[in-house]
Amino acid sequence: MPAVSTVHPSTSPVSPDDDAREVRPRIAPRPARVRHSTSLWRLRTYLYPYGSRYLVMAVAAIAGVALSMAIPLMTQRVIDGPIARADQRGLLVLGTVAVAIGITEAVVLFLRRWIVALANNGSERLIRTDLYAKLQSLPMSFHGRWQSGQLLSRMMTDLSIIRRFLGFGMLFLVVNIVQIAVVVVLLLNLYWPLGIVVALSIIPVAWLCLVNEKRFTRLSRKIQDEQGDVASAVEEGVHGLRVIKSFGRFAHLYSGFERRTQQLYETSMDRVKLSSRFLTFLEVIPTCTMIIVLGMGAIATARGDLTIGTLVAFITLLLSLIWPVAALGFLLAMTQEAMTAADRLAEILDAESPLVDGTKVLEAPRGHLRFEHVGFRFDDADQNTLTDVNLDIAPGETIALVGGTGAGKTTMTALVSRLVDVTEGRITLDGVDIRELRIRHLRRLVATAFEDPTLFSMSARENLALGRSDASDADIEQAIDIAQAHFVHDLPWGLDTRIGEQGMSLSGGQRQRLALARAVLVNPTVLVLDDTLSALDIHTEALVEEALKRVLADVTGIVVAHRASTVLLADRVAVLSQGTIVAVGTHSELLATSQEYRELMSADFDAEVELEECGSRPHATDGHRSGARPEVDGEQPPDGRAPRHPDRSGDVRAEVAR
Ligand SMILES: Nc1ncnc2c1ncn2[C@@H]1O[C@H](COP(=O)(O)OP(=O)(O)OP(=O)(O)O)[C@@H](O)[C@H]1O
Ligand SMILES: [Mg+2]
Repeated sequence: MPAVSTVHPSTSPVSPDDDAREVRPRIAPRPARVRHSTSLWRLRTYLYPYGSRYLVMAVAAIAGVALSMAIPLMTQRVIDGPIARADQRGLLVLGTVAVAIGITEAVVLFLRRWIVALANNGSERLIRTDLYAKLQSLPMSFHGRWQSGQLLSRMMTDLSIIRRFLGFGMLFLVVNIVQIAVVVVLLLNLYWPLGIVVALSIIPVAWLCLVNEKRFTRLSRKIQDEQGDVASAVEEGVHGLRVIKSFGRFAHLYSGFERRTQQLYETSMDRVKLSSRFLTFLEVIPTCTMIIVLGMGAIATARGDLTIGTLVAFITLLLSLIWPVAALGFLLAMTQEAMTAADRLAEILDAESPLVDGTKVLEAPRGHLRFEHVGFRFDDADQNTLTDVNLDIAPGETIALVGGTGAGKTTMTALVSRLVDVTEGRITLDGVDIRELRIRHLRRLVATAFEDPTLFSMSARENLALGRSDASDADIEQAIDIAQAHFVHDLPWGLDTRIGEQGMSLSGGQRQRLALARAVLVNPTVLVLDDTLSALDIHTEALVEEALKRVLADVTGIVVAHRASTVLLADRVAVLSQGTIVAVGTHSELLATSQEYRELMSADFDAEVELEECGSRPHATDGHRSGARPEVDGEQPPDGRAPRHPDRSGDVRAEVAR
């Protein structure tokens, strides 16, 4: 039994080197009773680190409102006092106080705006990094279900809605309600009959808000989802540009895109219609109230029940209510939008990962990999992709995995680094079920060069060192040698050249070679190559294989192969057919015993034999494999054929011919 140790799972939220699986979003837990506002309320934990800033912001906002309310009351004193008594000194004193109040209000306003920016940009950053970490941690099955445009739109649009709400909506919703309540009390205090008129006018405002809330929320959610659809269409259009252009399908895709934008436009207009009706009423109500107050106020003043100063103060205070009441509509709309945005963010942050991290690490990994009765079924599939797969790969052994297209080779390799988990049986590494190992540890032991060699928009060096950030220049050079990726030195800035988006500025074969070098550089215990050499010309392939042989001698290898030449890298071959392994043996054993293997391999060999008989060079007839042929130091056979394992390939052809 190999030495294993148990590590307590890390609880740290995010650190660049951590496996994303250990990330726990900061969002508050979901309560038992879920309401419409629950998700937004759960985001409160993102405000805590900036709690003092939010507090200063709230105090500054309330102080600002209090100061703005003090000015009408000062006016009342000025009119009824110094102006009525023609007291110039008193007028000067009260005037100076009013100016001081105005200046203080301006300073408080500036302070609030500045602090708001500090606080809510900070909270937005925290939510965004949590979302990103969560997306990275979610399994492939989650990403298979979600369109990337939807995820992008949630990370950008929904998050900016939340930021606007935190910095403005949330604050003013509270401040305005407080202001309305305080002003109404002040008005009742100044002259209660008019105060009651104002208080009564609040009733239709509240009713309008309640009536429109549901429709507004539904439309907001629809718009946000449709924005995600449009983002997905843009993303697909940009990524698939080459395919679209080459098939001349621009018009078709354009009409699909236009349909989506039209849909978004119509829903947005529905919301605009709803909110403009609603907002107009909210503006009209205070204006009507004002007219009534003016009329009743004039009568009361004429009767001597009300001083001019009090009426002016009353009217000024009432005027100060127009904005808070009118703004209530869009503040509530903003809150509804923020609630739906929070729901959409919570859907990502709450997504369950079926992969459970293990706790063990292998102290001295040897690389003994066993598939024991492994079965696998995709979430949405109705039958198994892999069934009862049994394979024992000894430490240091290399297995070639061959099988027809769709046989399940890529799926089988994805199980080894737990990109997906087995649904039946188990996979062990040195006798330990890989589900018991820490995922971070497992993924350091297993390196995969994928079928689709995705590169990132970073320098060639960074792309290479993705799996091993501490790699020295010598290590990188060695990996480049093995993968025959010397072309990187010819790029304009050598290794520091930024590779275009998804490595688009490189050829398919060049990308494959970088991806191979990236996997080799990790110095793994188990190296998985999923058809990694398919895009290479026959000559480069031979050079890479030669170098790979040295690497594979020391590691446990799984090499997915379609070509006979790649099979020859392996010690044994496993034939995968319809999701199960039907034959395992050495290459020659299988040629002798497995009809399926002979069929899979024969096309490749037949082609070569034919070419040989015609005396033509493979690169001359097969465009894919042709291209610049670098000189090989003296190893090149006289007929110009690439040196394809002279030790074994001759035997193979003879065997197949037999
Ligand atoms: N996300 C998925 N959901 C459902 N089925 C899937 C999914 N991915 C792959 N499959 C199915 O699983 C089967 C095996 O796919 P896999 O990619 O492992 O084949 P493969 O042997 O690697 O083929 P190829 O040689 O073409 O690369 C296929 O029938 C495929 O349609
Ligand atoms: Mg595949």
